[in-house]
Amino acid sequence: MVETVQWTGSGVVMIDQTKLPRVEEFVTCATYLEVAHAIRTMVVRGAPAIGVSAAMGVALGVLKADPGNLDSEFETICSTLAATRPTAVNLFWAIDRMKRLYAAMKGRPIEEIRAAMVAEAQAVYREDIAINRAIGAFGAPLVPDGKTVLTHCNAGALATAGFGTALGVIRAAVEAGKKIDVFSDETRPFLQGARLTVWELQQDGIPVKLITDNMAGHFLKSGRIGCVVVGADRIARNGDVANKVGTYGVAVLARENNVPFYVAAPISTLDLTLASGDEIPIEERPASEVTEVFGVPVAPSGTEVENPAFDVTPNRYVT
Ligand code: MRU
Repeated sequence: MVETVQWTGSGVVMIDQTKLPRVEEFVTCATYLEVAHAIRTMVVRGAPAIGVSAAMGVALGVLKADPGNLDSEFETICSTLAATRPTAVNLFWAIDRMKRLYAAMKGRPIEEIRAAMVAEAQAVYREDIAINRAIGAFGAPLVPDGKTVLTHCNAGALATAGFGTALGVIRAAVEAGKKIDVFSDETRPFLQGARLTVWELQQDGIPVKLITDNMAGHFLKSGRIGCVVVGADRIARNGDVANKVGTYGVAVLARENNVPFYVAAPISTLDLTLASGDEIPIEERPASEVTEVFGVPVAPSGTEVENPAFDVTPNRYVT
């Protein structure tokens, strides 16, 4: 399975998700600023993968920080990483975890602090894979045998430290011997479904068909889809779910057609400080993502655009 993000002796190595599936290229982030840039530009994306990368970014920053100015540099490292993307709460969860450890290490020798930071980032990575395996084990029994699973965006190994959340459920169902195939929404405008989910499932030999986002209703009505499984970027206290824009529409269409709609997510995606999904900050991304496809204009020049990267599915639609 693909190594999405890894801690190595030379820095944090990530597969460049802006280039997949055309080019399989790995980038090495040697500084926390390079990790922040990679998160902002979506070289690495997907809520848990963003969290793991941020934890590694903090560790990298502390490794290279001036011991004489550590507290102030630590603050800058954390605030820079926190300012990269606003919606996926796993980012803030991971930074808070590193902050708690840093506070607990106060007054200890710099080498001990550095070693502890690196060990914590590696623990976040390892735990994420174990959590995804557990999500898969919980979710697999819910997947109807002999049917198609519909998913939106990419909530796979590429969006996590490995195995995936929504795709983890699908992988676990396949491992359990279920005969299923997958429909992947293409997920305009960034095309995570077309570029990443299809690529990832093909690598594993899991049968997958690509559909455009506007075909989901047609297939949900057809009786072929046994369930929908998606990931999440932030889940409010009442169970409202922020996920890739378009998820809400799929959820409503699933309910209309009596197809179960499941959300697969780790505890680090829960934000119990927010009463409902109305309070979840929604990232607005550049207009060019909508007006262009791979740099080729698909709308008249000067076209005005709105480009929210996420939407919120009310809890009542989540099975
Ligand atoms: O903008 P992205 O690609 O980071 O958005 C990703 C999603 O919306 C995923 O569905 C979500 O992060 C869950 S990933 C396990």
